[in-house]
Amino acid sequence: MAKRPLNVGLIGGGGGAFIVQPHQKAINSDGTRRVTCAALHPDPNVAMQEAENWPFPIKGYRSYDELIEQESKKPVGERVDYVTIVTPNNVHFDPAMKCINAGIPVFCEKPLTVTLEEADKLVAAVNEKKVPFGVAHTYLGHWTTRFSRHIVRSGLLGQIRWVDAYYIQGWLAERAEDTGSMQAEWRVDPKRAGISNCGGDIGTHALMQLRYVTGLEVTQVSGHVETFVKGRRLDDAFFTYVKLDSGAHGLVRALQIAIGHKNDLGIEVNGTKGTLVWKQEEHEKVVIHLLGQPDRLYYRNAVTPNDGFLKDVPEWLMKEPTIPSGHSEGFHDAFARLHRSFEEDVRAYEEGKPLPNADGSKYATVMDGSIGIAFVKAAVDSAHNGNSWVQMK
Ligand SMILES: NC(=O)c1ccc[n+]([C@@H]2O[C@H](COP(=O)([O-])OP(=O)(O)OC[C@H]3O[C@@H](n4cnc5c(N)ncnc54)[C@H](O)[C@@H]3O)[C@@H](O)[C@H]2O)c1
Repeated sequence: MAKRPLNVGLIGGGGGAFIVQPHQKAINSDGTRRVTCAALHPDPNVAMQEAENWPFPIKGYRSYDELIEQESKKPVGERVDYVTIVTPNNVHFDPAMKCINAGIPVFCEKPLTVTLEEADKLVAAVNEKKVPFGVAHTYLGHWTTRFSRHIVRSGLLGQIRWVDAYYIQGWLAERAEDTGSMQAEWRVDPKRAGISNCGGDIGTHALMQLRYVTGLEVTQVSGHVETFVKGRRLDDAFFTYVKLDSGAHGLVRALQIAIGHKNDLGIEVNGTKGTLVWKQEEHEKVVIHLLGQPDRLYYRNAVTPNDGFLKDVPEWLMKEPTIPSGHSEGFHDAFARLHRSFEEDVRAYEEGKPLPNADGSKYATVMDGSIGIAFVKAAVDSAHNGNSWVQMK
Protein backbone atom coordinates (compact mmCIF):
# COMPACT_ATOMS: atom_id res chain seq x y z
CA MET A 1 0.00 0.00 0.00
CA ALA A 2 1.25 3.50 -0.77
CA LYS A 3 2.68 5.30 2.23
CA ARG A 4 1.02 8.36 3.71
CA PRO A 5 3.10 11.34 2.56
CA LEU A 6 4.92 12.97 5.46
CA ASN A 7 3.92 16.52 6.38
CA VAL A 8 6.87 18.91 6.45
CA GLY A 9 6.93 22.40 7.98
CA LEU A 10 9.24 25.22 6.94
CA ILE A 11 10.75 27.67 9.40
CA GLY A 12 11.99 30.63 7.34
CA GLY A 13 11.85 30.91 3.57
CA GLY A 14 9.71 33.93 2.71
CA GLY A 15 10.60 37.17 0.97
CA GLY A 16 13.02 36.02 -1.73
CA ALA A 17 14.94 33.59 0.47
CA PHE A 18 17.45 31.28 -1.15
CA ILE A 19 17.92 27.83 0.31
CA VAL A 20 14.25 27.21 1.04
CA GLN A 21 13.72 26.55 -2.68
CA PRO A 22 16.13 23.60 -3.09
CA HIS A 23 14.74 22.18 0.18
CA GLN A 24 11.19 22.57 -1.00
CA LYS A 25 11.95 20.85 -4.33
CA ALA A 26 13.76 18.06 -2.48
CA ILE A 27 10.95 17.60 0.03
CA ASN A 28 8.31 17.40 -2.68
CA SER A 29 10.43 15.37 -5.11
CA ASP A 30 9.32 11.79 -4.32
CA GLY A 31 5.64 12.22 -3.47
CA THR A 32 6.34 10.63 -0.07
CA ARG A 33 6.87 14.02 1.62
CA ARG A 34 5.34 17.42 1.02
CA VAL A 35 5.47 20.88 2.51
CA THR A 36 2.21 21.49 4.37
CA CYS A 37 2.83 24.47 6.66
CA ALA A 38 5.30 27.24 7.35
CA ALA A 39 6.37 30.18 9.46
CA LEU A 40 8.09 32.07 6.68
CA HIS A 41 9.15 35.40 8.13
CA PRO A 42 9.94 37.11 11.47
CA ASP A 43 7.16 39.65 10.86
CA PRO A 44 3.86 37.81 11.60
CA ASN A 45 1.88 39.74 8.97
CA VAL A 46 4.47 39.18 6.27
CA ALA A 47 4.67 35.51 7.30
CA MET A 48 0.92 35.08 6.75
CA GLN A 49 0.97 37.05 3.50
CA GLU A 50 3.85 34.98 2.16
CA ALA A 51 2.05 31.75 3.05
CA GLU A 52 -1.06 33.02 1.27
CA ASN A 53 1.00 33.67 -1.87
CA TRP A 54 2.95 30.39 -1.73
CA PRO A 55 2.89 28.58 -5.10
CA PHE A 56 0.73 25.79 -3.65
CA PRO A 57 -1.61 25.71 -0.63
CA ILE A 58 0.11 25.56 2.78
CA LYS A 59 -1.00 26.51 6.26
CA GLY A 60 0.69 29.74 7.30
CA TYR A 61 1.69 30.52 10.87
CA ARG A 62 2.49 33.90 12.32
CA SER A 63 5.67 32.61 13.98
CA TYR A 64 7.60 29.40 14.51
CA ASP A 65 6.42 29.38 18.14
CA GLU A 66 2.84 29.26 16.90
CA LEU A 67 3.70 26.54 14.35
CA ILE A 68 5.34 24.34 16.97
CA GLU A 69 2.57 24.90 19.52
CA GLN A 70 -0.35 24.33 17.14
CA GLU A 71 1.16 21.44 15.21
CA SER A 72 2.16 19.54 18.37
CA LYS A 73 -1.48 19.48 19.46
CA LYS A 74 -2.53 17.55 16.35
CA PRO A 75 -2.46 13.75 16.10
CA VAL A 76 0.27 12.01 14.07
CA GLY A 77 -0.90 11.95 10.48
CA GLU A 78 -2.29 15.46 10.68
CA ARG A 79 0.60 17.26 12.32
CA VAL A 80 4.04 18.01 10.86
CA ASP A 81 6.19 14.91 10.76
CA TYR A 82 9.31 17.07 10.65
CA VAL A 83 10.39 20.68 10.17
CA THR A 84 13.11 22.14 7.98
CA ILE A 85 14.86 25.20 9.42
CA VAL A 86 16.11 27.59 6.73
CA THR A 87 16.61 30.78 8.73
CA PRO A 88 19.88 32.71 9.23
CA ASN A 89 22.35 31.01 11.58
CA ASN A 90 21.22 32.86 14.74
CA VAL A 91 17.66 31.55 14.29
CA HIS A 92 18.56 27.84 14.25
CA PHE A 93 18.99 27.10 17.95
CA ASP A 94 15.73 28.41 19.38
CA PRO A 95 13.28 26.75 16.96
CA ALA A 96 15.39 23.56 16.87
CA MET A 97 15.36 23.26 20.66
CA LYS A 98 11.65 23.97 20.84
CA CYS A 99 10.94 21.31 18.20
CA ILE A 100 13.08 18.72 19.98
CA ASN A 101 11.24 19.43 23.23
CA ALA A 102 7.92 19.03 21.40
CA GLY A 103 9.11 15.71 19.91
CA ILE A 104 9.18 17.11 16.36
CA PRO A 105 12.10 15.88 14.18
CA VAL A 106 14.31 18.62 12.73
CA PHE A 107 16.25 18.97 9.51
CA CYS A 108 18.30 22.09 10.18
CA GLU A 109 20.49 24.23 8.00
CA LYS A 110 24.18 24.57 8.70
CA PRO A 111 26.09 25.96 10.53
CA LEU A 112 24.18 24.32 13.35
CA THR A 113 24.29 27.32 15.71
CA VAL A 114 26.27 30.49 16.34
CA THR A 115 27.94 29.30 19.56
CA LEU A 116 29.41 26.04 20.79
CA GLU A 117 27.33 26.27 23.97
CA GLU A 118 24.14 26.18 21.89
CA ALA A 119 25.46 23.32 19.77
CA ASP A 120 26.29 21.30 22.91
CA LYS A 121 22.77 21.89 24.21
CA LEU A 122 21.22 20.60 20.99
CA VAL A 123 23.41 17.49 21.05
CA ALA A 124 22.38 16.79 24.66
CA ALA A 125 18.69 17.35 23.90
CA VAL A 126 18.74 15.05 20.84
CA ASN A 127 20.55 12.36 22.82
CA GLU A 128 17.99 12.62 25.60
CA LYS A 129 14.81 12.82 23.53
CA LYS A 130 15.98 10.55 20.65
CA VAL A 131 14.32 12.82 18.10
CA PRO A 132 15.66 12.50 14.51
CA PHE A 133 17.88 15.49 13.74
CA GLY A 134 19.68 16.15 10.47
CA VAL A 135 21.99 18.97 9.41
CA ALA A 136 21.82 20.06 5.77
CA HIS A 137 25.35 19.40 4.56
CA THR A 138 24.09 19.24 1.00
CA TYR A 139 27.11 17.72 -0.67
CA LEU A 140 26.87 14.44 1.26
CA GLY A 141 23.81 13.87 -0.92
CA HIS A 142 25.80 13.62 -4.16
CA TRP A 143 26.08 9.97 -5.12
CA THR A 144 29.75 10.46 -5.95
CA THR A 145 30.42 11.76 -2.43
CA ARG A 146 28.93 8.57 -1.03
CA PHE A 147 30.98 6.54 -3.52
CA SER A 148 34.15 8.46 -2.56
CA ARG A 149 33.46 7.64 1.07
CA HIS A 150 33.23 3.95 0.19
CA ILE A 151 36.54 4.00 -1.73
CA VAL A 152 38.53 5.89 0.91
CA ARG A 153 37.07 4.13 3.93
CA SER A 154 37.61 0.70 2.32
CA GLY A 155 41.34 1.41 2.36
CA LEU A 156 41.66 1.27 -1.42
CA LEU A 157 44.00 4.28 -1.42
CA GLY A 158 46.15 2.78 1.34
CA GLN A 159 46.92 4.84 4.40
CA ILE A 160 45.79 8.45 4.08
CA ARG A 161 48.67 10.92 4.28
CA TRP A 162 47.12 14.20 3.24
CA VAL A 163 43.64 15.64 2.58
CA ASP A 164 42.79 18.96 0.96
CA ALA A 165 39.14 19.94 1.43
CA TYR A 166 38.14 23.32 0.06
CA TYR A 167 35.21 25.57 -0.81
CA ILE A 168 36.10 28.55 -2.98
CA GLN A 169 33.62 31.23 -4.11
CA GLY A 170 33.83 34.72 -5.57
CA TRP A 171 30.42 36.20 -4.79
CA LEU A 172 31.70 38.36 -1.89
CA ALA A 173 34.57 39.93 -3.86
CA GLU A 174 32.70 43.24 -3.47
CA ARG A 175 30.46 44.54 -0.70
CA ALA A 176 27.34 42.72 -1.80
CA GLU A 177 26.05 43.30 1.75
CA ASP A 178 25.70 47.03 0.97
CA THR A 179 24.00 46.66 -2.38
CA GLY A 180 20.81 44.81 -1.58
CA SER A 181 21.84 41.15 -1.23
CA MET A 182 19.79 39.89 1.72
CA GLN A 183 21.94 36.73 1.78
CA ALA A 184 25.19 38.73 2.06
CA GLU A 185 23.76 41.22 4.53
CA TRP A 186 23.21 38.82 7.46
CA ARG A 187 26.23 36.62 6.64
CA VAL A 188 28.69 39.41 7.53
CA ASP A 189 26.87 40.43 10.72
CA PRO A 190 28.49 38.70 13.72
CA LYS A 191 25.18 38.74 15.62
CA ARG A 192 23.40 36.71 12.95
CA ALA A 193 26.25 34.71 11.37
CA GLY A 194 28.45 33.88 14.38
CA ILE A 195 32.19 34.39 14.95
CA SER A 196 33.14 33.64 11.33
CA ASN A 197 31.28 34.31 8.10
CA CYS A 198 33.40 32.29 5.69
CA GLY A 199 34.22 29.49 8.13
CA GLY A 200 30.65 28.98 9.29
CA ASP A 201 29.09 29.43 5.88
CA ILE A 202 31.32 27.25 3.70
CA GLY A 203 34.32 26.14 5.79
CA THR A 204 31.93 23.84 7.66
CA HIS A 205 30.93 22.24 4.32
CA ALA A 206 34.61 21.58 3.49
CA LEU A 207 35.22 20.11 6.95
CA MET A 208 32.12 17.90 6.66
CA GLN A 209 33.31 16.65 3.26
CA LEU A 210 36.68 15.72 4.77
CA ARG A 211 35.16 13.93 7.77
CA TYR A 212 32.45 12.15 5.80
CA VAL A 213 34.70 10.87 3.01
CA THR A 214 37.73 9.89 5.10
CA GLY A 215 36.20 9.04 8.49
CA LEU A 216 39.08 10.98 10.06
CA GLU A 217 38.64 13.56 12.81
CA VAL A 218 40.49 16.83 13.21
CA THR A 219 42.49 16.86 16.44
CA GLN A 220 44.41 20.15 16.07
CA VAL A 221 43.88 23.29 14.04
CA SER A 222 46.09 26.17 13.02
CA GLY A 223 43.86 28.88 11.57
CA HIS A 224 44.17 32.01 9.42
CA VAL A 225 40.97 34.04 9.28
CA GLU A 226 41.12 37.19 7.18
CA THR A 227 38.97 39.96 5.74
CA PHE A 228 40.08 41.12 2.32
CA VAL A 229 37.17 43.44 1.52
CA LYS A 230 37.70 46.70 3.37
CA GLY A 231 35.11 47.58 6.01
CA ARG A 232 33.50 44.13 6.06
CA ARG A 233 32.58 43.15 9.59
CA LEU A 234 33.48 39.46 9.32
CA ASP A 235 36.02 37.36 7.44
CA ASP A 236 35.88 36.41 3.78
CA ALA A 237 38.85 34.02 3.94
CA PHE A 238 39.22 31.04 6.28
CA PHE A 239 42.26 28.76 6.01
CA THR A 240 43.25 25.97 8.34
CA TYR A 241 46.11 23.50 8.50
CA VAL A 242 44.77 20.48 10.35
CA LYS A 243 46.18 17.42 12.09
CA LEU A 244 43.96 14.35 11.87
CA ASP A 245 43.50 11.55 14.37
CA SER A 246 45.23 8.97 12.14
CA GLY A 247 48.41 11.02 11.98
CA ALA A 248 47.53 12.40 8.54
CA HIS A 249 47.58 16.15 7.92
CA GLY A 250 45.62 18.39 5.60
CA LEU A 251 43.97 21.66 4.72
CA VAL A 252 40.41 22.82 5.23
CA ARG A 253 40.09 26.08 3.36
CA ALA A 254 37.38 28.46 2.27
CA LEU A 255 37.41 31.72 0.36
CA GLN A 256 34.67 34.02 -0.91
CA ILE A 257 36.61 36.68 -2.81
CA ALA A 258 38.09 34.48 -5.58
CA ILE A 259 36.44 35.99 -8.65
CA GLY A 260 35.50 33.31 -11.15
CA HIS A 261 34.95 30.58 -8.58
CA LYS A 262 31.26 29.76 -8.18
CA ASN A 263 30.57 26.89 -5.81
CA ASP A 264 33.99 25.31 -6.07
CA LEU A 265 33.83 22.73 -3.30
CA GLY A 266 36.14 19.78 -3.63
CA ILE A 267 38.30 17.21 -1.93
CA GLU A 268 41.56 15.52 -2.79
CA VAL A 269 42.70 12.57 -0.68
CA ASN A 270 46.28 11.35 -1.01
CA GLY A 271 47.05 7.87 0.30
CA THR A 272 50.05 5.56 0.16
CA LYS A 273 48.54 3.68 -2.82
CA GLY A 274 46.65 6.38 -4.66
CA THR A 275 44.73 9.64 -4.84
CA LEU A 276 41.03 10.48 -5.08
CA VAL A 277 39.85 13.73 -6.64
CA TRP A 278 36.24 14.96 -6.44
CA LYS A 279 34.80 18.36 -7.38
CA GLN A 280 31.23 19.38 -6.72
CA GLU A 281 31.03 21.41 -9.94
CA GLU A 282 31.76 18.17 -11.83
CA HIS A 283 29.92 15.95 -9.38
CA GLU A 284 28.97 13.19 -11.79
CA LYS A 285 32.48 11.75 -11.60
CA VAL A 286 35.28 10.65 -9.28
CA VAL A 287 38.90 10.50 -10.46
CA ILE A 288 41.31 7.91 -9.06
CA HIS A 289 45.07 7.91 -9.63
CA LEU A 290 46.95 4.74 -8.61
CA LEU A 291 50.72 4.30 -8.48
CA GLY A 292 52.00 2.92 -11.75
CA GLN A 293 48.54 2.41 -13.26
CA PRO A 294 46.42 4.27 -15.79
CA ASP A 295 44.10 6.86 -14.25
CA ARG A 296 40.54 5.78 -13.53
CA LEU A 297 37.39 7.80 -14.06
CA TYR A 298 34.18 6.63 -12.42
CA TYR A 299 30.83 8.10 -13.45
CA ARG A 300 27.71 7.92 -11.32
CA ASN A 301 25.63 4.88 -12.25
CA ALA A 302 28.27 3.52 -14.61
CA VAL A 303 30.31 1.60 -12.05
CA THR A 304 31.21 -2.11 -12.23
CA PRO A 305 31.47 -3.20 -8.59
CA ASN A 306 34.28 -5.77 -9.10
CA ASP A 307 36.54 -4.19 -11.69
CA GLY A 308 39.86 -5.15 -10.18
CA PHE A 309 40.05 -2.00 -8.06
CA LEU A 310 36.66 -1.59 -6.41
CA LYS A 311 35.70 -4.05 -3.72
CA ASP A 312 32.46 -4.82 -1.88
CA VAL A 313 30.52 -1.79 -3.11
CA PRO A 314 27.36 -2.01 -0.98
CA GLU A 315 24.17 -2.94 -2.80
CA TRP A 316 22.31 0.07 -1.37
CA LEU A 317 24.95 2.36 -2.86
CA MET A 318 24.70 0.74 -6.29
CA LYS A 319 20.92 1.27 -6.16
CA GLU A 320 20.96 4.90 -5.01
CA PRO A 321 21.35 6.76 -8.34
CA THR A 322 18.00 8.03 -9.54
CA ILE A 323 18.67 8.28 -13.29
CA PRO A 324 21.11 6.73 -15.80
CA SER A 325 24.58 8.22 -16.12
CA GLY A 326 24.86 10.95 -18.67
CA HIS A 327 21.52 12.42 -17.56
CA SER A 328 23.04 14.45 -14.77
CA GLU A 329 21.76 14.57 -11.24
CA GLY A 330 22.45 17.86 -9.45
CA PHE A 331 22.28 20.04 -6.36
CA HIS A 332 18.53 19.45 -6.03
CA ASP A 333 19.01 15.68 -6.27
CA ALA A 334 21.67 15.85 -3.55
CA PHE A 335 19.18 17.63 -1.29
CA ALA A 336 16.50 15.08 -2.21
CA ARG A 337 18.79 12.19 -1.29
CA LEU A 338 19.33 13.74 2.15
CA HIS A 339 15.61 14.30 2.74
CA ARG A 340 14.90 10.74 1.47
CA SER A 341 17.35 9.31 4.03
CA PHE A 342 15.93 11.54 6.76
CA GLU A 343 12.38 10.47 5.88
CA GLU A 344 13.33 6.85 6.64
CA ASP A 345 14.43 7.91 10.11
CA VAL A 346 11.30 9.96 10.73
CA ARG A 347 9.09 7.01 9.75
CA ALA A 348 11.10 4.66 12.01
CA TYR A 349 10.80 7.19 14.86
CA GLU A 350 7.02 7.34 14.48
CA GLU A 351 6.85 3.54 14.51
CA GLY A 352 9.06 3.36 17.63
CA LYS A 353 11.84 1.54 15.73
CA PRO A 354 15.62 2.22 15.73
CA LEU A 355 16.62 4.95 13.27
CA PRO A 356 18.42 3.29 10.32
CA ASN A 357 20.35 6.35 9.11
CA ALA A 358 21.12 8.29 12.29
CA ASP A 359 24.73 7.03 12.32
CA GLY A 360 25.82 9.81 9.95
CA SER A 361 26.29 7.52 6.96
CA LYS A 362 23.48 9.12 4.92
CA TYR A 363 23.16 12.67 6.25
CA ALA A 364 24.98 14.86 8.76
CA THR A 365 23.88 14.49 12.37
CA VAL A 366 23.53 16.99 15.21
CA MET A 367 26.97 15.82 16.41
CA ASP A 368 28.43 16.55 12.97
CA GLY A 369 26.85 20.01 13.17
CA SER A 370 28.37 20.55 16.59
CA ILE A 371 31.83 19.43 15.42
CA GLY A 372 31.53 22.05 12.67
CA ILE A 373 30.93 24.76 15.27
CA ALA A 374 33.80 23.53 17.47
CA PHE A 375 36.08 23.56 14.41
CA VAL A 376 35.22 27.14 13.47
CA LYS A 377 35.83 28.21 17.07
CA ALA A 378 39.20 26.41 17.19
CA ALA A 379 40.26 28.06 13.91
CA VAL A 380 39.23 31.54 15.07
CA ASP A 381 40.93 31.04 18.47
CA SER A 382 44.08 29.93 16.66
CA ALA A 383 43.97 32.91 14.28
CA HIS A 384 43.69 35.25 17.29
CA ASN A 385 46.70 33.57 18.90
CA GLY A 386 49.32 33.81 16.20
CA ASN A 387 48.04 30.73 14.33
CA SER A 388 49.11 28.51 17.23
CA TRP A 389 47.88 24.92 17.32
CA VAL A 390 44.50 24.64 19.04
CA GLN A 391 43.22 21.29 20.26
CA MET A 392 39.72 20.37 19.05
CA LYS A 393 37.32 19.63 21.84
N1 LIG B 1 23.17 23.71 2.73
C1 LIG B 1 23.52 24.63 1.88
O1 LIG B 1 24.08 24.32 0.83
C2 LIG B 1 23.19 26.06 2.18
C3 LIG B 1 23.21 27.02 1.15
C4 LIG B 1 22.80 28.32 1.47
C5 LIG B 1 22.45 28.66 2.76
N2 LIG B 1 22.50 27.71 3.75
C6 LIG B 1 22.10 28.05 5.13
O2 LIG B 1 20.69 28.23 5.14
C7 LIG B 1 20.32 29.26 6.06
C8 LIG B 1 19.53 30.33 5.30
O3 LIG B 1 20.34 30.86 4.29
P1 LIG B 1 19.70 31.63 3.03
O4 LIG B 1 20.82 31.99 2.16
O5 LIG B 1 18.58 30.87 2.48
O6 LIG B 1 19.17 32.93 3.76
P2 LIG B 1 18.04 33.93 3.26
O7 LIG B 1 18.39 35.26 3.85
O8 LIG B 1 17.86 33.81 1.81
O9 LIG B 1 16.70 33.39 3.96
C9 LIG B 1 16.48 33.43 5.35
C10 LIG B 1 15.00 33.30 5.61
O10 LIG B 1 14.77 33.20 7.01
C11 LIG B 1 13.63 34.05 7.32
N3 LIG B 1 13.66 34.37 8.75
C12 LIG B 1 14.58 35.08 9.45
N4 LIG B 1 14.23 35.13 10.76
C13 LIG B 1 13.08 34.41 10.89
C14 LIG B 1 12.22 34.10 11.96
N5 LIG B 1 12.47 34.52 13.21
N6 LIG B 1 11.11 33.35 11.71
C15 LIG B 1 10.82 32.93 10.46
N7 LIG B 1 11.61 33.20 9.40
C16 LIG B 1 12.71 33.94 9.61
C17 LIG B 1 13.81 35.21 6.38
O11 LIG B 1 12.59 35.94 6.28
C18 LIG B 1 14.16 34.47 5.11
O12 LIG B 1 12.99 33.96 4.52
C19 LIG B 1 21.62 29.76 6.65
O13 LIG B 1 21.86 29.15 7.89
C20 LIG B 1 22.68 29.33 5.65
O14 LIG B 1 23.95 29.11 6.24
C21 LIG B 1 22.85 26.45 3.45
